[in-house]
Amino acid sequence: MNVGHRSGGSESVGGRFRRGRARAVRHPGEACIMGSPFRLDAESAPFVGISQAVKNVLQLADSVAKSDCGVLIEGESGTGKELIARRIWAKSNRADKPFLPVNCAGISESLFESQFFGHVRGAFTGAEQNMLGVIRAADGGTVFLDEVSEIPYGSQAKLLRALQEREVMPVGKPVPVKVDTRFLAGTNRNLAEMVQEGKFRRDLYYRLNIVRIVIPPLREHNEDVPVLLDHFGRLFADIYRREPIELSREVRAVLTGYAWPGNVRELAAWVERLYVTGIAPQLLADMLINDTPLTAQPRSAEGLSLKQVERAAIVQALERSDFNQRKAARMLQVHRATLARKLKQHKLI
Ligand SMILES: Nc1ncnc2c1ncn2[C@@H]1O[C@H](COP(=O)(O)OP(=O)(O)OP(=O)(O)O)[C@@H](O)[C@H]1O
Ligand SMILES: [Mg+2]
Repeated sequence: MNVGHRSGGSESVGGRFRRGRARAVRHPGEACIMGSPFRLDAESAPFVGISQAVKNVLQLADSVAKSDCGVLIEGESGTGKELIARRIWAKSNRADKPFLPVNCAGISESLFESQFFGHVRGAFTGAEQNMLGVIRAADGGTVFLDEVSEIPYGSQAKLLRALQEREVMPVGKPVPVKVDTRFLAGTNRNLAEMVQEGKFRRDLYYRLNIVRIVIPPLREHNEDVPVLLDHFGRLFADIYRREPIELSREVRAVLTGYAWPGNVRELAAWVERLYVTGIAPQLLADMLINDTPLTAQPRSAEGLSLKQVERAAIVQALERSDFNQRKAARMLQVHRATLARKLKQHKLI
């Protein structure tokens, strides 16, 4: 299980867990965006979008924040499920208590109870100290069950009991302990279908799914792509202390038309790559569309193939001429027809 990690306190929580914070902090090794050493949280990482789809999601999330009901957040990977969960927590009356995201994928049934309900020292071989477990560690706050579909079937009944009775029984100490923990859950699987197939318990499904928030994939609200590009542009210009990089209308159009299979996470990674590498936006957009690995584009002049130099020169001329092919051809001192042929060759059009 991949759970967060608590700072301070005499009892360990179990595994690693991430605690809710209200600022972006530089914290190498912590949960981070796209593998970069920056951590984004509810307030510093607002849920960005102008589309009706995003407005609906935000409206629903905000309307359920103050209640204690279970919320199931569905959406493909990278659509912002955890961000919405954090927002619900941040706007709830529990915001001064922990927010603990728990990645339920890979929890073994044997460890489930100790990780969730805690254990006492000596409860089993290897239990060298008392452990609170996730539910008690988030007492008064909120647990986000990420990838909830992956909880082993046998453990689902135990979790349901804790949710219903609002108490947990630590391993090795069979005395129920009252808890006041709210549960939010996220999934990129179709949980209702899993219930039909007998892979997920119906009773737990109903309990978690008092309110269901579905975050659509980015390709279904691509009018948000430009605002997301601007949002992450500002963010990474600030983080990497670089001048803002202008994106031309053409690049924006190409990116807006792209399907973004990795959703907002992929888009954020693209913008970060732009700021880290300094590669021309047009070229980087083209690489995204054609799925060219970054390593195929050396940045220094050394080691560039003739073809790469030609391509870079073309892209630069296009950018400088604001994508006017006639002007670009003049800059490159070639006939317009030659440029048109080269654009095709390099898959730039
Ligand atoms: N609408 C949005 N506005 C701003 N940032 C967003 C938005 N949606 C997602 N992000 C950012 O994209 C990244 C991925 O989001 P998040 O981790 O919440 O996705 P997820 O749906 O939980 O993905 P997974 O299923 O892979 O766990 C995060 O850095 C998050 O801050
Ligand atoms: Mg997630």
